[in-house]
This record gives sequence, structure tokens and C-alpha cells, in this order.
Amino acid sequence: MANQYEVLGKAPGSEELKKLSPKDVHLTIRGLSAGYGKMEILHNFDLTVSRAQSLCLIGPNGAGKSTILHSIYGFTNIFSGKIEIDGKEITNLTPAEKLQSVGIAYILQDNSVFPDMTVEENLLMGGFIKEKQDEAYEEAERIFKKYERLRNRRSQPAKVLSGGERRLLEISRALVMKPSILLVDEPSIGLEPRYIDMVFEILNDLQKNEKKTIIMVEQNAKKGLEFADIGYVLVSGQTAIAGKGDDLLKNPDVGRLFLGG
Ligand SMILES: Nc1ncnc2c1ncn2[C@@H]1O[C@H](COP(=O)(O)OP(=O)(O)O)[C@@H](O)[C@H]1O
Ligand SMILES: [Mg+2]
Repeated sequence: MANQYEVLGKAPGSEELKKLSPKDVHLTIRGLSAGYGKMEILHNFDLTVSRAQSLCLIGPNGAGKSTILHSIYGFTNIFSGKIEIDGKEITNLTPAEKLQSVGIAYILQDNSVFPDMTVEENLLMGGFIKEKQDEAYEEAERIFKKYERLRNRRSQPAKVLSGGERRLLEISRALVMKPSILLVDEPSIGLEPRYIDMVFEILNDLQKNEKKTIIMVEQNAKKGLEFADIGYVLVSGQTAIAGKGDDLLKNPDVGRLFLGG
């Protein structure tokens, strides 16, 4: 089958990726082959991201973007390769260990809010595995202080929230664990346009002011690349192009294939 993505060429080497994230490297993936059951989805995949940097993964449906986030968090079978945080290998830690000891949080795609529980109960769910429950409560208070939209609905069932507020609650729930790395899968999915900007502003604040490292998958490639410092274009489980977000937005191949240009 002729493949429209063939023009994008071969995977950039790890040296090239390193140039996009030259200092204070936070998370590194080296030569990762991973998938589900015996099926390999990612092939010899590399990734590098600096502390407080944002990386957006774009690419066609089924390319393996979510699988990259799943692999970092520990939901896949890893056949070979390594994942490191601050130079320490974390490849085989469980998701709970990743959340608790190395500060990786995974923000679930859509519809993970419990509609009949209050906003506060939903928020505190994020801290359920935290050893020090006091800290989870403290962090929840800080979040209510910061986000008026949640504070005002604190004791109401989550079903009263708008789509945008619901997404904010999903993000906030991950923040209760005070993670340093946020894995965010399609934050704009299913949202009305006015809420999409709100969600990107929230993520921007978390990156710029709270110094979170963000690895995001975004189907809305334009929004994702405008937001992120750097982007990878994933095709069939491998990176075809990597670059600064701004440069990818100007890349004619990216424009034609992913930006409707
Ligand atoms: N839980 C799973 N079990 C088996 N196969 C899966 C699972 N999740 C995804 N896949 C397969 O892995 C491939 C990549 O999927 P995914 O990472 O979700 O792509 P993307 O996020 O880029 O759209 C697809 O062929 C998909 O069918
Ligand atoms: Mg996906």
C-alpha cells in the first residue's frame, strides 16, 4: 500500500532529539520496543524532554501516540529499551510506584470524573494512594484556592460541571499527587472551542509557573504545536520528524498532512 506519510522520511537520531532538549534532561526513552500482548507497536523509539519543557506528539490515528504515554506510565509490555528519569532507570516500575516515587501522573482521556460524587470527593480521589493523606488534603486546598471554577462547585456533584470544568477537575486530580511530569492524552478532545483555549492556558500555567514537564498527545495538531516547545510526528510506531513546535507548524509536509494546509 502506498503510504502518504512516506515523504516524512526516517527517524531522527537520538543526537538530533537531544539538541531539542539540550539542558536539564528530565525524562529519556532509549530504543523502546513496546506494545500489547505480543504485538509490538513502538519500534526502537527514542524521546528526550527537559525539565519544565513541553513535548507534543502528533500523527495519524493508530500511530502509537497513546502507547508512548502508556509505556511511560507502565501499561504496556516492554520488549526492549529503557526509560529513565533524571538518569535513573524506571522502565519496570508499576504505575503506583511511578506516581508515588518518581512523580509521573497520567491524565486520563475524557470521562473519568465520577458524576455523582462531589467535586471535592473527585479531587481527593487523586490522592488515594498517597502515604501522607494530610499532604493530599493540603494540596487539594491549594488547588481550590487557585481555581475558582472548582472552588465554587466544591460541594456539588461533578455532573453539574461544564465540559471545560470537568477537564480542569481531571487535570487537578492528577495534581493532588504533586507530580513533576504530566502525561496528557488529548486534552482538547470533546471540548467546545472556548474551553479548549482554557485547558491550554491551564497547562501553560502548570508548565511555566509550576515547572511541570508535560508530554502530551494532541489530535488538534495546530493547538498542540502552538502550545508545545517541541513536537514529534509519530508514524507507525516511529518518529518521522522532530522539531520545535514553531518549526513544525511551518513545515510544509506537516501542514499538508496534519494541519489541513
Ligand atoms: N489496549 C490495547 N490492546 C491492544 N492493542 C491496542 C491497545 N491500545 C492500542 N492498541 C493498538 O495499538 C496501536 C496504536 O494505538 P494508539 O497508541 O492508541 O494510537 P494513537 O494514540 O496514535 O491513535 C493501534 O493499532 C491500536 O489498535
Ligand atoms: Mg491515542
